[in-house]
Amino acid sequence: MKTVSSLKEMFEFSRKVKDRGQTIALVPTMGALHEGHLSLITAAKKKADIVIVSIFVNPLQFGQNEDLKKYPRRLKDDQNKLKPFDPITIFTPGEKDFTPAALAAGIEVEILSKPLCGKARPGHFRGVATIVAKLFNITQPNYAFFGEKDYQQQLIIKKMTKDLSYNIEVFSLPTVREYDGLAMSSRNIYLNERERSAAPILYKALNHAKDIIEKGEKDARRINLIIAQLLGREPLVKIEYVGVVDPETLEETKEIKGKILIAIAANIGQTRLIDNLIVNAK
Ligand code: PAJ
Repeated sequence: MKTVSSLKEMFEFSRKVKDRGQTIALVPTMGALHEGHLSLITAAKKKADIVIVSIFVNPLQFGQNEDLKKYPRRLKDDQNKLKPFDPITIFTPGEKDFTPAALAAGIEVEILSKPLCGKARPGHFRGVATIVAKLFNITQPNYAFFGEKDYQQQLIIKKMTKDLSYNIEVFSLPTVREYDGLAMSSRNIYLNERERSAAPILYKALNHAKDIIEKGEKDARRINLIIAQLLGREPLVKIEYVGVVDPETLEETKEIKGKILIAIAANIGQTRLIDNLIVNAK
């Protein structure tokens, strides 16, 4: 198993792979790997000759009062989890090299970055898009893998890839969940016992909304209200947003028809969790 930290070494490794006529799949992560990440790596291994997993807690995508400092960093653990995937290359750029204080350029994916998570986290998606573009440039992948758990993120990355003419095929894969429906997330470890048992309410609320829509409810505002009421029953939950939106444009829907995205962000205690579901209305 190869772990590379130097940007130059990573770039040269990728160039050599490409020169040999082999393909590369990139799986960008911030580490503290769980089954959700591993599902992307499994798919990447099937698709390409060489798989690069990047592990970098990206300071550009954290706001001033967010959890950058306490975000879990456990490289040894992550390396152990990746052993079964060997041969695999782990890219762990250093913060000073990859996001120097003087960094001025950045990538803005307009419109899609504004609603949902973009509202409470201004600059977040600029930070994500910028770091993913840098990862693309250095690792030169043919394929890149993202999770639908971060639905808005994968949409923004696909738009960036298209608009900036990256010759990369971007895949997004279904959310991997715990036994009780909670979407796996590196942040779940912040939850205490009481919060952990409350957390599956997000997925329950999404499924409840799905049932109602499938039974014929067309009014997006009612769906929004029903979700808010259901979440409101759990005192540990503080809703950031509930979105009933078009899954391509993320624009708010009034009348539900065809495919729609229901997305939730909420704090459970101090921990911010997100989840979403695509529903096919009649
Ligand atoms: P991170 O939260 O570590 O997630 C890395 C990738 O794993 C993302 O594409 C995310 O959507 C996916 N993922 C997370 N939880 C998942 C789950 N339960 N099921 C399936 N996939 C899941 O997202 C980031 O890091 C960063 O923003 C990054 C893209 C690396 C840029 O810094």
